[in-house]
Amino acid sequence: GRQGDLSGRRVIVTAGGTQEPIDPVRYVGNRSSGKMGYNLATEARDRGAHVILVSGPVALPTPYGVELHQVETAMQMRDAVYNLITDADVLIMSAAVADFRPAHAATQKIKKTGNEVTGQHGKGEFSVHLVPNPDILAELAASLDGGDHAREPHNGIPVPQLKRRLIRVGFAAETEHLIEHARAKLQKKQLDMLVANDVSRSDSGFGTETNKVLIFHANGAMEDLPVMPKTGVAAAIWDRVVPLLG
Ligand code: C5P
Repeated sequence: GRQGDLSGRRVIVTAGGTQEPIDPVRYVGNRSSGKMGYNLATEARDRGAHVILVSGPVALPTPYGVELHQVETAMQMRDAVYNLITDADVLIMSAAVADFRPAHAATQKIKKTGNEVTGQHGKGEFSVHLVPNPDILAELAASLDGGDHAREPHNGIPVPQLKRRLIRVGFAAETEHLIEHARAKLQKKQLDMLVANDVSRSDSGFGTETNKVLIFHANGAMEDLPVMPKTGVAAAIWDRVVPLLG
């Protein structure tokens, strides 16, 4: 059975969406609820793993017996993952990491009128300049590949040297061309598995209790899973990770 099949394993699950500050009260965010990641964390705990959950802000209770690291931004999530990853067996990135962040977060609340940022395009208008966030999984792939650029310390934290083979699983939320985009991501991020969900379906994706996923494997195989509760999807994912562990 599945009972204890992750015992002695150290797994890192990222969950939720990141929030990228515009000013002290506003942020750029996304619709991720964190449910998929929290289900992955509790399922791994039940199978005996030491679970490290790196979570963006979510409205979910902290799972019992899980090591929770709360972060807000993509940069904080990156730093947390890199600090925790050295002796991990599995990294599942189910978090919806923001691709962009505001170039500068204002230190004071931006007012409707009367500060330097208003009126740059017209009276009362305001725009936010976004810069790209690092792609945690892609950077990790480049670093494990031996790419020199990836070893550059970033934000004071160098890309980690891993003590053992790390199974890496990514997620993809797509609204179109799901299969092509998923295969491209699996390749680019050099993942062992990529779980893709069609977020344009009402029974799948952000905020839902159920998910309809396709699982892409490094060997090119693809599995089309039926609509299931997120607890069932979590179990199906761990069922496929366990055989990959040495
Ligand atoms: O490229 P895309 O953002 O669609 O890829 C999604 C996958 O990559 C997820 O597993 C997500 O957690 C991860 N990701 C990441 N760093 C980012 C953006 C996404 O690791 N900056």
